[in-house]
Amino acid sequence: MTSFETLRIDTEGELGFLTLNRPDRLNAMNGVMLDELAQAAHWFDQRLDVRVVIVRGAGRAFCAGADLKGASSSGSPSAPPPGSASWQARREASQRGLRMANAIEQMRAVTIAQLHGYAVGGGFLLAVSCDLRVAAEGTTFFIPEVELGIPLTWGGVPRMVRELGPALTKELVMTCRRFDAREAKEMRFLNRVVPADRLEAEARALADSVLAMPAVPVVITKDQANAAAEAMVPARTAYLEGDVLIGVSSDPASQESRADYAARTLTKGGKKS
Ligand code: COA
Repeated sequence: MTSFETLRIDTEGELGFLTLNRPDRLNAMNGVMLDELAQAAHWFDQRLDVRVVIVRGAGRAFCAGADLKGASSSGSPSAPPPGSASWQARREASQRGLRMANAIEQMRAVTIAQLHGYAVGGGFLLAVSCDLRVAAEGTTFFIPEVELGIPLTWGGVPRMVRELGPALTKELVMTCRRFDAREAKEMRFLNRVVPADRLEAEARALADSVLAMPAVPVVITKDQANAAAEAMVPARTAYLEGDVLIGVSSDPASQESRADYAARTLTKGGKKS
């Protein structure tokens, strides 16, 4: 089995597991994790025997989004601070999150996001890129990029518009407000909300009900639905968002928002209520 620094991958027959594995940071995504998620997606694509993959997080949260303590001071592991690297290197970094989301969305296997604790920012977008979603009661969602002084990138806005519609996408991205699993189910973002102690069993049950169906019509259905979603709301120009991110995150006002946000949310005693 391939090994990763920030992930675990396992298989049990036709069922695969992709586990974010930085529990001490609530599975916050650094650049290594973004690259490894894309690599893991390609690894599963080579395994024709694995038909469903459950995407989950180790520890007490699914994913706390971009790693705000990493080397980047831009508020995103996909945009290094200006001046720290060549334009080419910065542009490459700015495409990482989109490449991750595209790789997950385009996996041959059916993906089920198993959500608990928190699904924040890029963690929310990882879940958006999965085919089906099951969350534990009490899971908290929010998308803080705008408060961090940057636009939501990684193809997140077109994907959210597909799933939630334009007005709700605008509200959640512009206000950065928190919402819970019950509201996310009402938005039709989640397929199931289950008691926390039933989460793993319910995700497996959903996987089993897909695995009980013939393989080829299932993957054709996935491709059909993805093609229809792309036709409704194309995300083909999302590559431009990385370039926008480089520009916006070099602005002093954006850097100030990011520093203020990190001080309020990550420092002990400075927590947001
Ligand atoms: N990047 C880096 N480290 C993070 C992190 C992130 N996005 N989110 C959490 N962590 C770290 C915390 O700093 C803390 O580390 P410490 O134990 O060394 O102090 C640890 O993970 C646990 O987080 P903590 O804040 O103590 O947990 P909590 O349950 O009180 O709060 C959150 C959970 C998710 C509400 C809070 O951690 C948070 O708001 N994180 C930032 C989320 C965010 O804005 N992400 C950016 C998305 S673009």
